[in-house]
Amino acid sequence: MSGPFEAVKISDHVYWVGAIDWGIRDFHGYSTFRGSTYNAYLIVADDVILIDTVKAPFKDELLSRVASVTDPRNIKYIISNHSEMDHSGSLPRVIAEVEPEKVFASPNGVKALAAHFHMDREITAVKDGESLALGGVNLSFLETRMLHWPDSMVTYVAEDRLLFSQDGFGMHLASAERFADEIDECAIVEESAKYYANILTPYSALVTKLIERVGSLGIRIDVLCPDHGPIWRKDPGKIIGLWGKWAEQAPTMKALVVYDTMWGSTGKMARAISEGLVGGGAAASVMPLHSCHRSDVATELLEAGALLVGTPTINNNIFPTVADVLAYLRGLKFRNLVGAVFGSYGWSGEGHKLLNDELASMKVEIVADPMAVNYVPDGEALDRCRGLGLAVAEKLKEVVKGGS
Ligand code: FEO
Repeated sequence: MSGPFEAVKISDHVYWVGAIDWGIRDFHGYSTFRGSTYNAYLIVADDVILIDTVKAPFKDELLSRVASVTDPRNIKYIISNHSEMDHSGSLPRVIAEVEPEKVFASPNGVKALAAHFHMDREITAVKDGESLALGGVNLSFLETRMLHWPDSMVTYVAEDRLLFSQDGFGMHLASAERFADEIDECAIVEESAKYYANILTPYSALVTKLIERVGSLGIRIDVLCPDHGPIWRKDPGKIIGLWGKWAEQAPTMKALVVYDTMWGSTGKMARAISEGLVGGGAAASVMPLHSCHRSDVATELLEAGALLVGTPTINNNIFPTVADVLAYLRGLKFRNLVGAVFGSYGWSGEGHKLLNDELASMKVEIVADPMAVNYVPDGEALDRCRGLGLAVAEKLKEVVKGGS
């Protein structure tokens, strides 16, 4: 008996043999409220080839799914498209148990796997653009460096017109269904956007280049198999199109207001600013950081044109939750944003000044001087906040019109 876990047939030669992580809620700082999957795949032709593995605790689930198709010891080759441990964590133990003839990775993948696992085992490097007739199918490898690690590559199966895209076009979404066309579209778009915003934004120029390169190669992709979330067997162009759009980071009439507050003053300012934004014709999304996760802030920013950030001054500094989000957003390198800062202060008032410098250093085009209020905003101060929202909305109109 193979065990409780079954493989799922994807195409003529390919089965899904991954694992579903229903319980994960934090993926190295990224909130995964719908869980995730670690997708591994099995090519069954003249020989058996395993594409990627799964996170270490799920090794038995992977091998059980393989065993529902064939004896795992029939795996002759393993291809590691990406060495991050959600895909390679069980690789050493799988190698030990099935003893494959060869393991392949990109040249950077060979180095990364060595640095992770220190295995006494040769890994064979495949070059960018290389094709191999392996086990009865024709495989082509494309390096996708920094999408999103230096070692990343994708593998194309010519016979099935199927692309194993590793993290590319993936999402953190646990589901009993394996295919995108079986899952609620809102959940798919929401989780894809979250994945793109939190993982891919800094590499947007490379995403655009990759989509152009695949287009210029003239290869047809009927099935798109990422390493997380559902598989695209109908209209893979849909998710590729969404990634192409997000990679542009084109400004929109949406403004994101992010803040935290100690005694409610900066919160009042945020609400007055959002009224001004809406009054000026922008859409406003307001995210108080005492109740919003940093990775949801990044997701909201993905399709925004403006970022307004508010902080009270605490101990001559920016409020800690605001500093946390700014450090996170700085790393994600969002482009094409206008913005402004605001906040209340008691005596020294450094918070909003430091925040303004921070936003400017992130290449956000600052629309107005920081809006600062001593202690508690009165009606006149809240009118000025509303005016700031109006000014940002006006600037957004200019920017969006200029880009269209
Ligand atoms: Fe899903 Fe970059 O690992």
